[in-house]
Amino acid sequence: MTSTNSTTFIVKPGGTLNGEIRVPGDKSISHRSIMLGALAEGTTEVTGFLEGEDNLATLNAFRAMGVNITGPEQGRVSIEGVGLHGLKAPDGPLYLGNSGTSMRLLSGLMAAQAFDCTLIGDASLSGRPMRRVTVPLAEMGAKIETNEAGTPPLHIHGGRKLKGIDYDMPVASAQVKSCLLLAGLYADGQTCVTEPAPTRDHTERMLQGFGYAVKREDNRICVEGGGRLTATRLDVPADISSATFFMVGASIADGADITLKHVGINPTRIGVLNILRQMGANIELANEQQVGGEPVADIRVRSARLKGIRIPEEQVPLAIDEFPAIFVAAACAEGETVLTGARELRVKESDRIQVMADGLQILGVDVRPTEDGMLIQGGLIGSGCVQSHGDHRIAMSFAMAALRAAGPIEIHDCANVDTSFPGFATLAQQAGLEVTVV
Ligand code: S3P
Repeated sequence: MTSTNSTTFIVKPGGTLNGEIRVPGDKSISHRSIMLGALAEGTTEVTGFLEGEDNLATLNAFRAMGVNITGPEQGRVSIEGVGLHGLKAPDGPLYLGNSGTSMRLLSGLMAAQAFDCTLIGDASLSGRPMRRVTVPLAEMGAKIETNEAGTPPLHIHGGRKLKGIDYDMPVASAQVKSCLLLAGLYADGQTCVTEPAPTRDHTERMLQGFGYAVKREDNRICVEGGGRLTATRLDVPADISSATFFMVGASIADGADITLKHVGINPTRIGVLNILRQMGANIELANEQQVGGEPVADIRVRSARLKGIRIPEEQVPLAIDEFPAIFVAAACAEGETVLTGARELRVKESDRIQVMADGLQILGVDVRPTEDGMLIQGGLIGSGCVQSHGDHRIAMSFAMAALRAAGPIEIHDCANVDTSFPGFATLAQQAGLEVTVV
């Protein structure tokens, strides 16, 4: 179960970030490694797996459906695939904690199984919109009940015959795209998803790594039902979304020089590099290489004088999880930063526009939240007590803000940092952030 909300971070002002660190494995790729490994024929060996609560929720869901999984131990997981038709009915509802990715991707898979199943989550996940997946899945022939607001639990009926559809996604969402492609593995004919803007493509890359054909023409991605997945080896790179806190921290701190090792730099994830560089950040990539179908690099970041910018809207889906940290960078920049076209931030683990605006205002920053973004006047960061509302990325972003704050910052409700970045406080301390966990 996701932890209680009793963890507080107290971060002293000042400090800096130095040295070489490796942040934990990529959350999106780790989820998919379990899902595709479980559905493959043969044993899939994973290294670099993220042992965060979200990924453990996915792993436990597949164990509950009869898949033998060894580990995780120091990032190693071994999954004995049962094939596309080998999952067994779980004894009870599948509890997915805080993890939207688990619920949305699993809804596509479960809709195609022979058995019924119920997906549930914690308070945050129970408030998140699911019609974006249940509506197109119903078009494919699935039968799924949500509550009246279109939120979890999801009661998914088994034994439905799915048919391929051609779906024009109204929101740029990798979770919706992946959900439909996974359902498409079981559907009659071809399932195609057209995305309004590029979103992370780990599902497509990994399906191909497991020997499943994926066709892509411009922004339309298609799979044909009825194929099979063949087990493989996967090396999960460090998560660029976790690296982001250190990139922002090193950019705003005085005297910082940090290298983040072996980070995934998939072009659909590097919005944060593009945005920070446009703001004047000093970021260098080294040792660029391909690892199991995903590009990786070491990222060196040094202190810089950031300036406010108008964030290009096309970068938004490519940096969708990074905005809490980017807002902190903007608060330390010279001039105004304007974000538009980011309404999706309101339906993440928390309402990230409102929660960040509230916290930054408490710290004395001049910000104005808008329906789909934020206006931030760069200046001084004060001191104070902020709420993360159980949102891991909000907690870690405010922790980094202390590197430029006038006094200590106390952040409440930080236990969910473990959903994506177990060991964050220890690693940040080693790098030079003066954080204490209470
Ligand atoms: C994810 C996709 C993104 C992201 C989430 C992980 C994924 O969500 O915010 O943290 O693994 O596919 P959306 O696709 O809904 O934007």
